[in-house]
Amino acid sequence: MDLSTTYLGLRLPHPLVPGASPMADDLDTARRLEDAGAAAIVIRSLFEEQIVAEQMAAFRHTEEHAGSFAEALSYFPDTNVFALGPDEYLERIRLLKEALRVPVIASLNGTTRGGWLDFSTRMQDAGADALELNVYYVATDPAEVSAQVEARVVEMLQAVKGALRIPVAVKLSPYYSALAHLAGEIDRAGADGLVLFNRFYQPDIDVEALEVERRLHLSDSSELPLRLRWLAILSGRIGASLAVTGGVHTALDAVKAVMCGAHAVQMVSALLLHGPGRLRDVREGMARWLEEHEYESLEQMQGSMSLLRCPDPTAYERTNYVELLHSWR
Ligand SMILES: Cc1cc2nc3c(=O)[nH]c(=O)nc-3n(C[C@H](O)[C@H](O)[C@H](O)COP(=O)(O)O)c2cc1C
Repeated sequence: MDLSTTYLGLRLPHPLVPGASPMADDLDTARRLEDAGAAAIVIRSLFEEQIVAEQMAAFRHTEEHAGSFAEALSYFPDTNVFALGPDEYLERIRLLKEALRVPVIASLNGTTRGGWLDFSTRMQDAGADALELNVYYVATDPAEVSAQVEARVVEMLQAVKGALRIPVAVKLSPYYSALAHLAGEIDRAGADGLVLFNRFYQPDIDVEALEVERRLHLSDSSELPLRLRWLAILSGRIGASLAVTGGVHTALDAVKAVMCGAHAVQMVSALLLHGPGRLRDVREGMARWLEEHEYESLEQMQGSMSLLRCPDPTAYERTNYVELLHSWR
């Protein structure tokens, strides 16, 4: 079965890609993912806070402004908490490029337009085949309007696109009030892809200790429908390619995402839970499903459940909502 797809202009033998995570920290695991058939591999993110902290430290050192940034620095996570420092990150890209044949996608994670984005060119020079720009931003300032938040995403993308030759994807959260418009703006600003969606790691609280509990929950397939809805809404409406991330655990999950318009299907939790071999199972399961349903190729199925031909997706969403509520007995 022909499962090939084009994502970020990269021709891939199938859409399954291990998403940004610690899996590529270890060369052995990365090789096992490639052996299991990964079509490309996304490295975990390098964070704005790491790059800025390093830039500030260098500036402090050379300009002898010791202490003047102490307050600003105190808001940043301790740079020791990061698994890879900026130089180690570049080295990781080089090592992965030497060890693997599949495309290696680097990831930058931040929220402001600034000099830290220049680091993307060093990732490109280290051999990254593409870049994922992850905008993980919680808008907590009541004085900040949504247009400012969205404009910043576009400006960050423009800064990176202006400096790079390699393709750039933007990894977004679903929490924008006019997501379709923002996706269009990102597309017009030259993004090669959109990755839907960032998962926000929701802290709980410990009521006895009066502490915030940070716990990382892996996903399950129940997180997929939110992604399916937005893939279906955006598919065919923007030129950038689409990747799904969040809730893909089975071959059927992957089939659904492709039907809704995904060109790439990223998996993390399922691989962390079941190991790299899960990738092969999902790929084989997809191929079997397509054969059983008499498709000739994956591309024949791609976007078949898109809402592109739906005359009014907003009315359609409301109708579904109303009918669903009224169907409850
Ligand atoms: C342990 C762990 C580390 C992650 N690290 C990153 C990261 O560095 N950058 C990023 O963009 N996403 C990161 N993610 C999010 C994943 O790339 C992915 O978007 C999310 O887990 C949803 O996909 P899934 O349902 O297949 O797990 C991480 C997820 C996990 C579980």
